[in-house]
This record gives sequence, C-alpha cells and structure tokens, in this order.
Amino acid sequence: MSQALIDQARKVMENNDRGTYTVPTHGLYPFQWNWDSALSALGFSHFNMERAWVEVETLMAHQWVDGMVPHIIFHEPDDGYFPGPDVWQTGRVVPTTGITQPAVVGFALRKLYDRAEDKAAARVRLAKLLPKVHAWHQWFYRNRDPNGTGLVAIIHPWESGRDNSVDWDEGLDAVPIEGVAPFTRRDTTHANPDHRPSDEQYKCYIWLVEYFRGLGWDNAKLHDASPFCLVDPGFNGILIRSCDQVADLAEILCDTSIASEAREMAANGRAALESLWNPALGQYTCYNRAAGRLQDTPTIGGLLAAIADVPHGRADALARRIALLGERCGYLVPSHDPADGAFDSLRYWRGPTWLIVNYLIAEGLSRSGQREMAQRILADSLKLIQKSGFAEYYDPMSGEPCGGSSFTWTAAMVIEILKTKRVPA
Ligand code: GLC
Repeated sequence: MSQALIDQARKVMENNDRGTYTVPTHGLYPFQWNWDSALSALGFSHFNMERAWVEVETLMAHQWVDGMVPHIIFHEPDDGYFPGPDVWQTGRVVPTTGITQPAVVGFALRKLYDRAEDKAAARVRLAKLLPKVHAWHQWFYRNRDPNGTGLVAIIHPWESGRDNSVDWDEGLDAVPIEGVAPFTRRDTTHANPDHRPSDEQYKCYIWLVEYFRGLGWDNAKLHDASPFCLVDPGFNGILIRSCDQVADLAEILCDTSIASEAREMAANGRAALESLWNPALGQYTCYNRAAGRLQDTPTIGGLLAAIADVPHGRADALARRIALLGERCGYLVPSHDPADGAFDSLRYWRGPTWLIVNYLIAEGLSRSGQREMAQRILADSLKLIQKSGFAEYYDPMSGEPCGGSSFTWTAAMVIEILKTKRVPA
C-alpha cells in the first residue's frame, strides 16, 4: 500500500516539475512559490536528490539584494493568475512579488544534507546556499523586527502562507480599501469560490500590494508604514527552527561566525515566543503589533509554533489542545477551532486541514516528547490521502478534498511521511 501511494505521489510531483522548479499545481498556481518549493524538496530528496537541491537553488537564486527571498517567482508569463508581475512591479529581471513567505528553507536544507550520500558534494552546495539563507534570516530580524523584540512581523496575510486565516481579520479591518484599482480574480475560475477567500479580503490584499508598491518596495520603510502588522507564532516558530538548523549546518562547514549569529537569533526568538502564549486557550496566539494586542483567535498558527522545539510543558499543552480539536472534527489538524463561530470547514485557512502544516506540527511535537499525538496527526494525514487524493487541503469534518488537485507539496509530504515517520498506510 505505501509503495503504491509513494508512486502516485511521485507522479504528481513529476507532472508539476518544470525542470528547475515545481509549480504547486497546474492552472491555479503556475509559478514557483517559496515555502512550497522548500517542502517539495523534501519529497524529491527520497527519489531524486539532485532535483531536491536544484529546487532550493532555483529559489535562492532569486533572492533580493537586501536579503529577502520573495514569495513567488514568475518564471514564465501566465495570465491564469492574479495579481501578476504587472501589479507587483518590483522591477526585477525575472519578476517576483515584493513580499516573502515562511522561512522553511533552512529546515529543509538540514534534512537534505543529512540524507545526502556524498557529503563532500553536499557541503560544496551548502557552502553556496547557507550564507544566502542566513542573509534572509538576518533580513527578517532587521526589517521585520526593527525594535529588536526577538519576533518578526508579517505585513501582508500572504506572507504567513495562511492567506485568509481568521488571525488576519482584525488586522485587515485597519486596511482602507478605498481607491483600490478594479481587478478580476482568476483563482475563482480554477477552484470553487466557496473554498477561496472572499472578495472583500481580496480588496485588502490588493490594496496592501498597491500601497507597498507606492513605497518603492523599500523594506526599510514597509514594517513601520504598514497598517497591517501581525506577529504569527507559527511563522516565527519556523524561522527559529530554521535559524537553529543554519547554525548546525554552519558548524558542519566550520563557519563560526554564521553559527554563532544564527544560534543567537534562534535563542532570542525562542525566548520571545513565550510572550505569545495564551493561557486561556492553552496555545500560542497572534499578536497584533499595529494595535498592540495579543489576539484570542484559536488557529493553527499557534499550534505550528511546536516546530520551534518549544519547552516540553508547552508541547504537552499543545498536544492536549490538539486532542480537544480532535473531539470536534474527523481529521486533525483543523486550521481553525470548529467550536469557534468563525470556523468554515471548506474555506481555505478558516477550517480545512493541510498536510504540510500537519507534517510540521508532528515534526515539532515528536521532538518535544509528544510522539503519540505526532503519530496520530500523521495517521490522519494518510487517511485523508487515501480517501481524497492529493488535494490542496481537506474538509476536517468529512475529509472531502478542497481547492486545487494534484498538489505538489501534498504529494511531497506523503513521500516524506511514509519514508521517514513509520506511520502504517
Ligand atoms: C496559497 C497558500 C500558500 C501557498 C500557495 C501556493 O496561497 O495559502 O500557503 O504557498 O497557495 O500553494
């Protein structure tokens, strides 16, 4: 059974392979996405290690001079997606967006290196990539944490990777949508509109893009100028863990300066993460930096922080919180608490279960002593695949497939889980 699943997953990945990068899925997302690529590299590493490295190398080749790694790289023109390069206008030779996405590259590189058979060759590749990844992490703390709190903010919901999460509702209330240029969405022609963000939210997304464009995409200005400025525990958790992995890899390369800087960034971030603990909910929650308030939104962002090797007591509480969510749905881990009024089982990040997040939570929980819950999450993930194929995301109540189909990172996670986590399929 598991070999058949692996073969199917591999086929999905190969169909979305464009040679040096993969598209998340044909039609809906026809370019290279940042964290999709890093997680897809994990899938490739089990059947084509060379291709895994190339996926990350292509992504990092489009890093900006200031260190940012953009969230989309528009390798080939395709008018099936909105907003395209003409809206972003970032002035790059190969166009990119002007915002970023969760920093999973450092995390992925550590796994690629560990899996590489030819360590000497892997170290040559790492020596080129590691300074770039470290520069990206430095970019984060310089530009998105200008007051040195230890936690970085996102300035656009798309940066979080959880586009329309309830976490962003309050922050988006502060985004004025007057004057946004008229536009036609393309996503709703590829996927069921009931599974996608609302038109009102789209206006906010585009308003922010136009506003940042008006500021010349100058990252030294954007954090303070943005009316939307949110600190996401999951986003920070991923960055912290990636800083740790960059430090580990730098030690392997005997680069003591990167190693000590990265270690310090991780330690500061991990200490500051505690300020996002929400005792009433028993999980981390987002901090609205623009409004100066810790939110009460019970989303998966606060569970994803488990990836940061959080204290064992916190991991234990997160596992209990996930067990409670398990009583309220059929397939862990819903992206929003089904008991909350804003839960929507079909709408993207407002309820559905996503395999990539499941994998990252399970990875973190098992390292922090919560192996049983980690295994349960992974087992649910495989049940979803068996029931509904390689979808973009799933209804956590019924397990029905939602959004796009034949999804690259979902397939990559299936290979990764089956090859590394010893979950029976
Ligand atoms: C959606 C997701 C985001 C992902 C992208 C491509 O925008 O919210 O996390 O990177 O699709 O799959």
